[in-house]
Amino acid sequence: MTANRSLKLVERDEDGVDLAFRADVLAGLAEPQKAIPARWFYDDAGSRLFEDITQLPEYYLTRAETEILKARGAEFATLIGPGRAVVEFGSGSSLKTPLLLSAIAPAAYVPLDIAGNFLRASAADLAAKFPGLPVYPVEADFMRRVELPQEVAAMPKLGFFPGSTIGNMVARTAVDLLRSMRTTLGTGAQLLIGMDLIKDIAVLKAAYDDAAGVTAAFNRNLAVRINRELGGDIPLGSLRHEARWSETHARIEMHLVAEDDLAFTVSGEAFTMRKGASIHTENSHKFTPASINLLLLAGGWEPLARWHDRAEQFGVILAEARLPRSAP
Ligand code: AVJ
Repeated sequence: MTANRSLKLVERDEDGVDLAFRADVLAGLAEPQKAIPARWFYDDAGSRLFEDITQLPEYYLTRAETEILKARGAEFATLIGPGRAVVEFGSGSSLKTPLLLSAIAPAAYVPLDIAGNFLRASAADLAAKFPGLPVYPVEADFMRRVELPQEVAAMPKLGFFPGSTIGNMVARTAVDLLRSMRTTLGTGAQLLIGMDLIKDIAVLKAAYDDAAGVTAAFNRNLAVRINRELGGDIPLGSLRHEARWSETHARIEMHLVAEDDLAFTVSGEAFTMRKGASIHTENSHKFTPASINLLLLAGGWEPLARWHDRAEQFGVILAEARLPRSAP
């Protein structure tokens, strides 16, 4: 790896508490429908649990996207070309990122992630697989504009955002992110993004409520993390994992449902929950070709190509940044 220390951009207080994490949790638990942004799942344990999820028989997303990346390398090379700095939003997955990098001959690789340890480990892994490729990991919250390392300033960029992580955001937040990606990546940028497709509801629900209980452990790990990092006493044994489909929002929702009336504290603040009430922990929006195009265009990205896996479960889209225009 060319730079083996990542830039650190996460703010902590003198006890090492991640200030943005605490602010999101305290604000979210104070709302009538308690809700915590899904990005806080990914501490070291959560990142590992997610890797386990990708191996589950019910969780088709990773396999379907990997199939597309494997099958379409030649088309990526033609449409993207060599010499770009690949900026991945999230730590590289050990499987998908190499497929992209070996297809397109990039000039550098810049993974962005808030989970610093996981980021450094996966960046080192990647650097070992691609000895000639400069790797510049950046520990950052990519929901805001990120200052990229000087070394890649002059290179054209390809944003890589696989996994349908964009689906974790409601439309307004997704558009904000797509717009800030444009700012981060600069003029002439392209974006290769994975987006999960609407399909049979039973298939969707099973993907988020697997028989082995790995997704349940992933969901509950958020409460484990709150208790550990924010000095909480949430009674873990009284929270049940639930995956729901919302037709209106075209999304799977994950909740932690109280099995009793509960009272607990987090960071010295007191909270209560009625039996049956929930903490809403994740949205995973699902898309159609039309909603994919609309969302990308709203975020300032012009779709160039879209690929599906053979079972038509998942989409990978290549888009390019277009200059803002005032014409209709
Ligand atoms: C990594 C955000 C795409 O929403 O499918 C997996 C996370 N949550 N199982 C998803 C997740 C529950 C995953 N993303």
